[in-house]
Amino acid sequence: EEIEKGGFDHFMLKEIYEQPRAILDTYRGRLLAKEGIIKMAGIDDNLEKFLNANRIIIVACGTSWHAGLVAEYIFEDLARIPVEVEYASEFRYRNPVITDKDVLIAISQSGETADTLAAIKLAKEKGAFVFGVCNVVGSSIARETDAGAYTHAGPEIGVASTKAFTTQITVLTLLALKLAKEKGIFNKTRFHEHLSELENIPSKVEKALLSNPLVEIISNVYKDSTNCLYLGRGYNFPVALEGALKLKEISYIHAEGYPAAEMKHGPIALIDEHMPVVVIATNKGHYEKVVSNIQEIKSRKGKIIAVVTEGDVQVKELADHVIEIPETLESLTPLLTTIPLQLLSYHIAVMRGCNVDQPRNLAKSVTVE
Ligand code: G6P
Repeated sequence: EEIEKGGFDHFMLKEIYEQPRAILDTYRGRLLAKEGIIKMAGIDDNLEKFLNANRIIIVACGTSWHAGLVAEYIFEDLARIPVEVEYASEFRYRNPVITDKDVLIAISQSGETADTLAAIKLAKEKGAFVFGVCNVVGSSIARETDAGAYTHAGPEIGVASTKAFTTQITVLTLLALKLAKEKGIFNKTRFHEHLSELENIPSKVEKALLSNPLVEIISNVYKDSTNCLYLGRGYNFPVALEGALKLKEISYIHAEGYPAAEMKHGPIALIDEHMPVVVIATNKGHYEKVVSNIQEIKSRKGKIIAVVTEGDVQVKELADHVIEIPETLESLTPLLTTIPLQLLSYHIAVMRGCNVDQPRNLAKSVTVE
């Protein structure tokens, strides 16, 4: 097992560090930036289904559901296709309206999650076209779907999902970009800008990983906290949810993710000097509004850990801790902002003596309802 961990103390840390390579493997052979082409057999063969779809319904559980939420922003913003994201377990039991004009995308690392599999069967019965985004090759979901795209992240052993999440977002970004181009929403220049920036992501993830020593220091300050709030807006709202889920899963600290602007409708009541608040405040997408949320937290003495874009000035003056990530296109920021949040949960869990790779009560793949 030590050999498999490749010199890392835990699989989770190894998998966090594998992300630059995993993301590259996900788009390798699919993203041809110079030629201005995205090639994915599962999509190319079924392009009409996607182009004629009334809407896309995304079903998933856990971290994969969070990737689905990011994809909702991506598909609507870039490809202008209406999207609904559903917990697979809720979808299957609420008599959903599904027609043969719907495309259902099922996201699952393991490809074995029982609720997601059942949701797929239901959608197929009702005539929807079902597309799978799985990591495990030949898994039940990969076999049950009409078509799909693998994430190619390599085996994920740590129960808390890390590289599966970023590679799912990568696949879904490729799909959205392809549709944006086919629908004529993206001209050549804009398409090229996105493709070449996606190619820069692995090296930018490497840079984001350089925050590790700083994140370890921050973790030491907050390791004994009993609660933690995560805030983000737009593309980074699902990242806030995912950051909170990671902390809950492996360190057993109660954490909640919230859209930053919703803070005033509840969570603000919780803020005092004992409450660490992780805020994603990158320079694109409602930056000024997030800054004013940070001011509100500060005036209530909350402790602010902010994830900002390199070179940020405003947030630095307000936050207790600032973690920088490289600049990128807004739609790609989740691939970078996620990294320090993964590291934060990892270090806090290690410092609390938790079993990082096999947290209590959780399973890597949930094959029962
Ligand atoms: C379990 C795992 C999570 C995972 C979720 C969905 O709860 O512990 O890490 O996100 O299942 O799994 P899937 O394999 O369908 O992505």
